[in-house]
Amino acid sequence: MKQVYLFTIFGSTGDLTARKLLPAITELIKKSYDIHVIAVGRRAFDDAEYLNFMNKKTDQPLEIDVLKGRLHYLEMDISDPLDYLNLKDAQRAYLNGSTKRLYYMAVGPELFDVITDGLNHAHLVKKDDVSDVVAFEKPFGEDLLSAEKINALLSKHFSERQMFRIDHYLGKEMIQNIMMLRFANRIIEDSWHNRSIKKMSVYVKEKDGILGRAGYYDKVGALRDMMQSHVLQVVSLLTMDIPVSYYSDDVKNEKVAALQALSIDDSETILGQYKGYLDEENVPEDSDTETFVFLKGFINTPRFKGVPIYMITGKKLDEKNAFIEVEFEETSEQRKWHLPLSTNRLRINIAPEDGFQLTLNAKVPGLREAVQQVKLGYDVTNQGVGNLPEAYEKLLLDMMEHHRTLFTRWDEIQASWQIIDSVLKQEKKRYKYSDYEDLKNYIKNQTGETLL
Ligand code: BG6
Repeated sequence: MKQVYLFTIFGSTGDLTARKLLPAITELIKKSYDIHVIAVGRRAFDDAEYLNFMNKKTDQPLEIDVLKGRLHYLEMDISDPLDYLNLKDAQRAYLNGSTKRLYYMAVGPELFDVITDGLNHAHLVKKDDVSDVVAFEKPFGEDLLSAEKINALLSKHFSERQMFRIDHYLGKEMIQNIMMLRFANRIIEDSWHNRSIKKMSVYVKEKDGILGRAGYYDKVGALRDMMQSHVLQVVSLLTMDIPVSYYSDDVKNEKVAALQALSIDDSETILGQYKGYLDEENVPEDSDTETFVFLKGFINTPRFKGVPIYMITGKKLDEKNAFIEVEFEETSEQRKWHLPLSTNRLRINIAPEDGFQLTLNAKVPGLREAVQQVKLGYDVTNQGVGNLPEAYEKLLLDMMEHHRTLFTRWDEIQASWQIIDSVLKQEKKRYKYSDYEDLKNYIKNQTGETLL
């Protein structure tokens, strides 16, 4: 019997569903996965009206022909337990004894309680049964305490094995590649420690402002929106020890250990807010929400002790670019040569480019003994694989197939909130920046560090 996957999306009229979930589901249907969708919402639509409405919400037109017949819109009041019986009826058409039910919470955490209670009440979920799973996105709370509350709510009706906490950065091609690059390459793994690495930096720069999302963004800011999730996930992948296997829990154990060993040098923390942020629609005029963060941390493990880890993210910067830069120490012999050598660097491009580049010293060809820096590169987009799957396509497929490595486990969330809570407690003043150059100068003056 062909495996059927039934997505039930709560929050199905929102941007996430229009821009990410429906396109990802479309791609998977085109790859012959037998997927059906029940899109739950409060408004009155028939299926065609719903698809047209969603189509208007995205720049990229939806492939309505692919979704038609596979997507059913269900008008429902999620706070009314009786409406879950209608959902049960709607699901019946797709249940064949081995259907996997995937509940996607594209809603704020304040609705998790009422939804999971409703599902439980109507027997639409069986705790511990992995054919029923739930996916949800950050914000996983606003601090450790609220994250614990959210987790407790979800844990009433879903066990950890049934939960998929989505951090879409983990679905990006080069982030998936970090472990392979590190652990499958002797020359990298043998140099991946404090005797060879001088510093590591993770940059997630954005050019846009908050794009009309003040209602969400002003409550969270860059520390909660980007650092707690995407950036710390990348740091844990860069600094974890080698897991005993590639299996999810072994990987998570090492990621958690790395996060637990991360300490932030508070004296170097810089928070900023772009000039003009207070004029954005719906931002309170006295808001001190940070739109930029610079953190310097250390991983206190034997492998990494003493290596500074820089974490930089912000909005309204010079470009949209996410990358990692690892700078290696020069050798003592190199110093003695008095040549214009540069340090070796490994740059991992996450987006918009995907790939990596290793910068090495080499002799300039010809008669003279001159040095130049050359780059060995791998560019994923030149690999002839066509369009790379979007992060969400990979993540939804992994949920369907119950591969859990690219989702965050509860103790990862706990460890990352402990770090962010301690930064939030510092009550740093926000530097008002006009652009990235301005920030670079400010950081140089305050910390002596040069941003790329
Ligand atoms: C989201 C944040 O998680 O990631 C946004 O909420 C941010 O504020 C976005 O813009 C960046 O993601 P990407 O994939 O465009 O780098």
